[in-house]
Amino acid sequence: MRFEENSLDTAHTQFVHSMFGSRRTPKLQNWPLEEAEWGAKVKRQKPAPKPDQKVGEMAKMLSEERLQTQVELEFSLVGLCHRIQPTFKEGMTQINFTARTPVDRKLSRAIGWQARNYLKEPQFDAERLAGIQLAVVEDLSVVEDLKPVVTPGKMSDELLTETDAMEAAFRTRCFKWAAKGWEIDLDQLEHRSQSEALVIPSPGRREDPKNWVHKTVPLKPAKAS
Ligand SMILES: [Fe+2]
Repeated sequence: MRFEENSLDTAHTQFVHSMFGSRRTPKLQNWPLEEAEWGAKVKRQKPAPKPDQKVGEMAKMLSEERLQTQVELEFSLVGLCHRIQPTFKEGMTQINFTARTPVDRKLSRAIGWQARNYLKEPQFDAERLAGIQLAVVEDLSVVEDLKPVVTPGKMSDELLTETDAMEAAFRTRCFKWAAKGWEIDLDQLEHRSQSEALVIPSPGRREDPKNWVHKTVPLKPAKAS
């Protein structure tokens, strides 16, 4: 949850990311969310990085002084994925799509794709990939030191501000589905995994729940709404 919330945060790019406009302006604006059952979306403008904050081929393409970058950001709990689409200038855009799978209490695996309508030839991939990897390292430098490590279980246990609206939307949905009794009980899972192979149930079990060798992961009980 911590790292997914980092990806959804609309405020940190102005502070954390050297190539996305850090130190450009500390002033943040609020943008309305489009909310859906499984996710939320926000379209916003943010101060563009200064030309000297870009390097390599991007610096050549974005050499003129720009005021704003347009960014669309959305997430879905289905598949636990998010999509970030910045438009750097008219006709120049990219989509970063990331899907994340929790592995254990503190580890998740993210798989990302980038589609772009500029610098499309393969010789530009290495520089684009290096840019993504730099951003991940910059994010980690903040997220790895967060305390508590795990997102608190209640909204009221952490101070969120108006510009944390996407994180709040994400947390609200996680808590909603957890309250239905869908959250894995990690304490029990870790204990029982010493001697049992426990699995996430497939949809097939709903139709035919009998005679499966491996038991399903323990879930926390549903909360009365
Ligand atoms: Fe980031």
